[in-house]
Amino acid sequence: MIESKALILAGGRGTRLRPLTYTTAKQLIPVANKPIIYFVLEQIINAGIKDIGIIISPETGNNINELVGDGSRWNASITYVIQDKPAGLAHAVKTAQDFLGDSSFLMFLGDNLIQGGVRELVHDFNNGYSESIIQLKRVKDPRQFGVAVLGSEQQVLRLMEKPKEPPSDLALVGIYLFSSAVHAAIDRIKPSWRGELEITDAIQEMLNMGLRVEARILDGWWLDTGKKDDILEANRVVLDEYAIREINGQVDDLSDVVGRVNIAHGATVTNSVIRGPVVIGEGTQVKDSFIGPYTAIGKGTVLERVSIEHSVMLENCWLSDVERVEDSLIGCNTRVTSSNTKRRACRLFIGDDSDVAI
Ligand code: TTP
Repeated sequence: MIESKALILAGGRGTRLRPLTYTTAKQLIPVANKPIIYFVLEQIINAGIKDIGIIISPETGNNINELVGDGSRWNASITYVIQDKPAGLAHAVKTAQDFLGDSSFLMFLGDNLIQGGVRELVHDFNNGYSESIIQLKRVKDPRQFGVAVLGSEQQVLRLMEKPKEPPSDLALVGIYLFSSAVHAAIDRIKPSWRGELEITDAIQEMLNMGLRVEARILDGWWLDTGKKDDILEANRVVLDEYAIREINGQVDDLSDVVGRVNIAHGATVTNSVIRGPVVIGEGTQVKDSFIGPYTAIGKGTVLERVSIEHSVMLENCWLSDVERVEDSLIGCNTRVTSSNTKRRACRLFIGDDSDVAI
C-alpha cells in the first residue's frame, strides 16, 4: 500500500452558520449528538489511514484541538496545521505542505459526510495509476458547485467552478485523493475572482499538465453541513441510518418511549412521549413533554412542557412551556421560555447564550 495521509479541512469562516460559529467551529456542531468531525475522522480511519492532518483557523482551532485531541482515542496520530486566513481549499493544501511531504493523501472537507465512507475510494487510488480521484454526485442544480465533465472510463476531462451554464450535473463532493503532483499544480494557479486558491482550478491544472484524474460517482447520500437546514437534514439522515434503541437513563411509568430512541446515562424522562428516531444526551431532563422524530437533544438540558421535533439542540439549554418547536437549531446555554402571549409555532435559529421568551 502507498504511504498515505489524510488532510481534514476544518478552517474556514463558517459565516452561513452564524451565530453558532461565533463561538465554535462548524465542524464541531453535533448531528445525532456527535460532532460532525468525528464522523469524518471515523470514515478516514475506517479506510486505513491513521496519519491525519487537520487544517484549523486561528479563531476556532483551539476548540477543535481540545475536543479532538491527538487522535490516540482512535489509535491515530493527528497533526494540527493553522491556516492564517481562509484563502481557499488549495491554499489549505499549500499550508499543509510540510505535513504532507511527498505522500499521496485523502483530502476531506471537515463539514461533509457521505454514505458508505471512503474505503473503496482509497483502495481504488492505492491500486490505480491516476494522480487524483475526485468524488462526484449528481445534483439538481449544479450552478452552486464545482462541476466535472467526464470522458469514458471515469476519466475527468474538464472542471468548472460554479458555472452559470453547467456542462453536466456532476458536482464535486468535498472528498478528493491526490498524489504529490497536486502541489506543482497549486503553485501554477492564481486566486479566483473571489480571491481564493480554488482546488477545482488546481485539479483543472493537473489536467492541463497532462496528468490523469479519475472520478467516482456517489450513489448514496452526501451531506454538506454548511447551513442551518443542512445540519437538520444531516441530523435526520444520520438518525435514520444509525439510531438504535438504547435506554440507559431513567424513564418513568407515565412515559411512552416509542421506536429508536437513545437515552444516555443520567437522563430522566417523566410523564412524556418520545417518538424516535431521537437521541437524548447525558443528564438531560424531559418533563411533561413531547419529543418527535429526528430530534437530537444535547447533554445537561431541561425540557418542561415542551413539544419539539425535527430539531437539534446543543448542550445545557432550558426550554419550558413552548409548543411546536420545529426545524430549529438551538445553540449551547440557550433559554427559551413562554411569555404567556398567544401561542404560535416556533421556527428558531438562535446562537449560544441566547435567552428567548416567546
Ligand atoms: P466552505 O463551507 O466553502 O467555507 P466556509 O467554512 O468559510 O463557510 P461560509 O461559506 O459559510 O463562510 O468550506 C468548506 C470546508 O473547508 C469547511 O470545512 C471549511 C474548510 N476551509 C478551510 O479549511 N480553509 C479555507 O480556506 C476554506 C475556504 C475552507
